Amino acid sequence: MEKQWWQKEVIYQIYPKSFYDSNNDGVGDIKGITEKLDYLKSLGITMVWICPIYQSPMADNGYDISDYYQLNPEFGKMKDLEELIAQAKEKRVKIVLDLVINHTSDEHPWFQDLLENPQTSKYRNYYILKDGIDGEPPTNWRSVFGGSVWEPLNGTKEYYFHSFGVKQPDLNWENKNVREELYKMVNYWLEKGIAGFRVDAITFIKKDQSYDNLPADGVDGLVKCTKKTRNQRGIEVFLHELKKETFAKYDCVTIGEAPGVPYEQYGDYIGANGYFSMIFDFRYADLDVASGSEWFKRVDWDVLDLKKLIFTSQQQIQKAGWGATFLENHDQNRSLSKYIKEEKNRNFYSATMLGAMFFYLRGTPFIYQGQEIGMTNFTRKSIEEFDDISSVDQYYRSIKEGFNEEEALHFINLRSRDNSRTPMHWNDQAYGGFSEVEPWLGMNENYKVINVKSQEQDSNSILHFYKKIIKVRQTSEARNCLIYGDFEPVLEDHPTIIAYKRILNHQEVVCYFNFSSKSQPVELNNHLYDVLLNNYKEKNTFNSNQQYELKPYQALVLQKKEASCYE
Ligand code: GLC
Ligand code: CA
Repeated sequence: MEKQWWQKEVIYQIYPKSFYDSNNDGVGDIKGITEKLDYLKSLGITMVWICPIYQSPMADNGYDISDYYQLNPEFGKMKDLEELIAQAKEKRVKIVLDLVINHTSDEHPWFQDLLENPQTSKYRNYYILKDGIDGEPPTNWRSVFGGSVWEPLNGTKEYYFHSFGVKQPDLNWENKNVREELYKMVNYWLEKGIAGFRVDAITFIKKDQSYDNLPADGVDGLVKCTKKTRNQRGIEVFLHELKKETFAKYDCVTIGEAPGVPYEQYGDYIGANGYFSMIFDFRYADLDVASGSEWFKRVDWDVLDLKKLIFTSQQQIQKAGWGATFLENHDQNRSLSKYIKEEKNRNFYSATMLGAMFFYLRGTPFIYQGQEIGMTNFTRKSIEEFDDISSVDQYYRSIKEGFNEEEALHFINLRSRDNSRTPMHWNDQAYGGFSEVEPWLGMNENYKVINVKSQEQDSNSILHFYKKIIKVRQTSEARNCLIYGDFEPVLEDHPTIIAYKRILNHQEVVCYFNFSSKSQPVELNNHLYDVLLNNYKEKNTFNSNQQYELKPYQALVLQKKEASCYE
């Protein structure tokens, strides 16, 4: 594919509520991000994606917007954002905002008007309304955060539709006025000088217009809605128009959150004329759950499963266009806790091995706040400690499905989105230096050992290694190969090593990641390569068969020496 500027970026994802609290009210804010720009710069970040900062009652922490043009006062004022954009620009860091256009908050003035004047509101057609059938909701579809997708519209026999929470009514994309309002808003933000958008839940904007029932899949008599609400036929018309009326007019980057798209359709999404610059593929991140939301049907997995998902994703995306690679985000649990099964093995080596493994895949790499210091999940002891609306719903649904409290808590502890939403650990002082007062969400107690300050002082820390990982991709001799090179699998059937090559013309980088707590032999003629990155200082040895011994959780990234000298 033709080279694009956004392929070179290294993106850092900020969950603003938990990043840094500049005014000590317990909630992170925009000024807090500005104050930490030098930190991001020192890490090697070139672009920042900030989760929603718009006005919102925060039922889903900002993914429920009540005014697209105002900022949530807890996060700051417009001038704070302008200041952030300006300062970031000076430091050559680009800012990407979140775009939530599948739904609004029920506190948005459009929806409020509809509630007040259910029959006459001029916003009736801005949302999806349907009559109930014999006092029952129009269909038996279950929303992503639990319960029916339909909620009664008070005082009428009508229901409104929500793919996610009750307080997140879906916008009616079939209505041209809605689309035009949204495009205007998108352009308003692009004019402000942001580099682009991460586009939330975008595959949900088209619903199957038949609105018919499906066989139930749970004891609640409902069925997961996604078969009827995600990537439905006709969505291409909306996505094409969205791009034409907004993104295409700017040299911006767009990163689609696009679950539910089969690989055969990736070309439409991310090909040369695709709707987005890149999309996230969640298949490998969700390998420990049977399917995105059926959390209680946990599946056991091994390294070979993970490898297959990653390799397939890489090969499919390579055929279609460009991808966004990530280990963590605000909807996932922490990667160290997820991918390294035994607690005793969660250490510097496994954390840096994971970091490097995903970072050199083909695609634009995203780092989620706290990942660069190896933050982990932690176990909450009662449902009251949870904030994430999906965890709360999953807890009660598990109980209804017949699990006991302990089991229900166990499920949500493993997978809760709160795992990655705890405040950032800046130092070992009270509240991890995130704030001087008690933060909005309980801290992970291990901030005393896992924090930025101590890792900055330790040249053998995960943080320092992340800096190296980034530097190798951005400035080493192999950078073009690591950014633009093709992906090629290596050792496809090996049970515990994930290995791959990146190839660009005559350049070749080969990467080995040992996902095992034991040494693993590989056939490797180390004289042919220069080391680009290694998370061990000690030299590797050869076994009696002259095989190269990879150390436990070793990450070894090698650049092939110029072929001519050896042929
Ligand atoms: C996306 C967001 C998630 C949010 C949901 C509804 O999946 O990443 O955090 O809850 O959309 O907007
Ligand atoms: Ca604050």
